[in-house]
Amino acid sequence: MTDTSAFVHRFVPASASGLPPLLLLHGTGGDENDLMPLGQAVLPGAALLSPRGKVLEGGMPRFFRRLAEGVFDHEDVVRRTHELADFVAAAREAYGTTAPVALGFSNGANIAAAMLHLRPEVLAGAILLRAMVPLPVPPEHDLAGKRVLMVSGAMDPIIPAANAAALARVLKAAGADVRHEVLPVGHGLVRQDLDLARAWLGA
Ligand code: MLT
Repeated sequence: MTDTSAFVHRFVPASASGLPPLLLLHGTGGDENDLMPLGQAVLPGAALLSPRGKVLEGGMPRFFRRLAEGVFDHEDVVRRTHELADFVAAAREAYGTTAPVALGFSNGANIAAAMLHLRPEVLAGAILLRAMVPLPVPPEHDLAGKRVLMVSGAMDPIIPAANAAALARVLKAAGADVRHEVLPVGHGLVRQDLDLARAWLGA
């Protein structure tokens, strides 16, 4: 049985009521501290749960193994996604929260997308910043009513536009309520990501 010690993490309890908790998922080389300021800025007062990815690539934490940039070890994606979903379920129990909305960047957005495919019940919704297709053939799943915001960069050197569009399409086909914004930027986050996330969470 998984407990909250399964991942190094930070948890900040809510200081306002009625807000969904945010599950903060960092990019390659980040850690549990990385997205705290973003989480606080997009939904002030919400509880924040922020785990550190357990896979190390040259010392850099990630949420699953990759064989090269943009080429994923799909077996590891599946295994790590279940491991993270079990941790999120255990954290909900331990901290007494409702299902979180994932807020993931890059590798963190990719494992959030994999969670939507494999363990959708764990998430109330997801904000996927610079996400790509995590699994070539996701299992059949019903995402009816699940809200997803994807924000991609038209000049992202890591994620081809067609790949991001394919992820949006697969999520929509499964019934998710997907909004996909493409900004004229690269892989890094910009002010508009924050503004879009905040507006979407407030809608
Ligand atoms: C990934 O490995 O998940 C993506 O290539 C993005 C990255 O983390 O660099």
